[in-house]
Amino acid sequence: MILPIVSYGTKVLKQKAQDISNDYPNLERLIEDMFETMYEANGVGLAAPQIGRSIRLFIVDGSPFTDENPEMNGFRKVFINPKIIEESGEEWSFNEGCLSIPSVREDISRLSKVRICYQDQDFNIIDEEYDGTKARIIQHEYDHIEGVLFTDYLSTFKKRLLKRKLNDITKGNVKVDYRMKFPLKKGR
Ligand code: NI
Repeated sequence: MILPIVSYGTKVLKQKAQDISNDYPNLERLIEDMFETMYEANGVGLAAPQIGRSIRLFIVDGSPFTDENPEMNGFRKVFINPKIIEESGEEWSFNEGCLSIPSVREDISRLSKVRICYQDQDFNIIDEEYDGTKARIIQHEYDHIEGVLFTDYLSTFKKRLLKRKLNDITKGNVKVDYRMKFPLKKGR
């Protein structure tokens, strides 16, 4: 089932999400629905707060980047209760977007490597290190469960330039070709 993605301005996106246990109701179904929702929106990552649930769960599938980066082939994963242990390497800039902030893209600088401890869909504990684009997707999605959006990293000047556009998004005044929910949309 395709779930509506909540937009910028929705409270749940600014909340720090909670860990879940392996008896979380209908978890398998939720994860399936999140993949379906992400693919429909042509995303490479989706975090539970983006579908309105404040829980520490995100999914990634980097395959759309396979053409430019063969390493991304098969990078399809579920991260449950993740904790970033360490970020290292060099800072590098990547043009990020977010399914909750349609039509906005900005260059964001982050460290190139990330070590993350998480549970997979069977609740096995896993400790892994990623770099490059994989690390970047993980860092962006991880931020979502910490209540952080990439726009939070922009300079005051950039934020001012974007203010109107972001306000429009909260009201649903944006063109988007997937299912969304906007906090200040009138009617319906
Ligand atoms: Ni995002």
